[in-house]
Amino acid sequence: MDTQSYMNPLASELNVVLDGSITGRLLSSLGSRLFFPRGIIAQSNEAKQLAPVKNATIGMAFHHGQPLILSAISDAMPTLSAKEKVTYAPTAGVEEVRKAWKDSLLKKNPSLKAGDITLPAAVPGVTAGISFAADLFLDETSTIIASDPCWDNYSLIFTERRGAKLRGVPFFGEPSSWDAGAGLDLAAIRAAIHEEAKTGSVRIIFNFPNNPAGYSPTHAEADALVDIIRETACNGADILVICDDAYFGLFYEDDIYRESLFSRLSALHEKVLAIKIDGPTKEDYVWGLRVAFVTFGSPGLGPEHREALGKKLMGAIRSSVSCANTPAQYLILKVLSDPRTAGEKKANYELLRGRYRAVQSFIATHPAHPKLSPMPFNSGYFMSFRCKGIDAEVLRKKLLAEHGIGTISLGPGILRVAFAALEEEQIAEIYGTIYETAGKL
Ligand SMILES: Cc1ncc(COP(=O)(O)O)c(C=O)c1O
Repeated sequence: MDTQSYMNPLASELNVVLDGSITGRLLSSLGSRLFFPRGIIAQSNEAKQLAPVKNATIGMAFHHGQPLILSAISDAMPTLSAKEKVTYAPTAGVEEVRKAWKDSLLKKNPSLKAGDITLPAAVPGVTAGISFAADLFLDETSTIIASDPCWDNYSLIFTERRGAKLRGVPFFGEPSSWDAGAGLDLAAIRAAIHEEAKTGSVRIIFNFPNNPAGYSPTHAEADALVDIIRETACNGADILVICDDAYFGLFYEDDIYRESLFSRLSALHEKVLAIKIDGPTKEDYVWGLRVAFVTFGSPGLGPEHREALGKKLMGAIRSSVSCANTPAQYLILKVLSDPRTAGEKKANYELLRGRYRAVQSFIATHPAHPKLSPMPFNSGYFMSFRCKGIDAEVLRKKLLAEHGIGTISLGPGILRVAFAALEEEQIAEIYGTIYETAGKL
């Protein structure tokens, strides 16, 4: 079989629907080949409706209408039914959970409009969502812009898995000393986008609050970013914007734009396709639960495009992880409907904001360090130092071996500190040791 030219007829059907649309123009070669088979899952879904009692379709074992379940599993999850504990979830997630997540998105992002976005699809974590977006829209011919520094997993996903070029752009301003007013380097972001636009399409990932910088745009910066994307689309380029909203909501300063950029980008222009990838991982303090959501939005997506794009995504899910964890999805439903959630989340937020303030106060009350320059930070879990004239890895190792302090070096130039993982009372001492150790290098 000539795999180069072979295209499954179901993929071709979807491609015909998507042809000429923003999605069709941006799809990768794998994205073009993906489809959702009319095989076991689709036939089993039909049987669920039409053959509820004599359903011999799927690889699960039932007795008297209930899934077989071991007591150890059953006893360990007392608030879930047997079906919620052990049955397979649908490929794109449990409908009720997807709807509840969409409702929560609309509440958290008041300017987001229900009609502008797709029903979020459940995936096993934000990482998986980013990887599926990369499957659909990146290959050896594509470049994706990200902040430099960025989460290190981006290069593994975009470059190593998908063969795309990761173009790191210094998103964050470089104040000579601590200056809370210095934020995004909008000129650098604009220049990179304009240059990519010359190829006819731009792919970019925004991760706010950022890992590792811990920065989120102010209102004015959010407006400016949206303007850059709008003007690029108006000038004729297709733009894919992935919003990695893993740390959404952990905003510690009043001037920060409180919504996801997705709210604005999903309704911006028919040449802009926005993808929101988010989840309860950090928002709801369930790091290991492994569930997250992928939501699309673009004025260039009609109902037929949304359906076809949804099937492409389901093809990516089905062919790699099959579906996301069922009990995790039902647990998120409980989180979203439990009256205690809001109060507990507020308390957790305040705990983390206290840690943020302790770091900020340490930096403000100490003279500018000759070798460590804090990058702008106002949100999330992290802050990072730019290392000047010293190697971040040497500093990291010294902190670890001599002081029992764990930090992350990102290349020779950046030291990341996850202040969210420290107790507020530890912060002044730990940062004091970091300053002192760096000073001696
Ligand atoms: C920017 C960013 N995106 C995504 C993730 C991963 O999210 P998940 O655990 O849901 O895969 C992380 C976690 O460290 C992150 O820092």
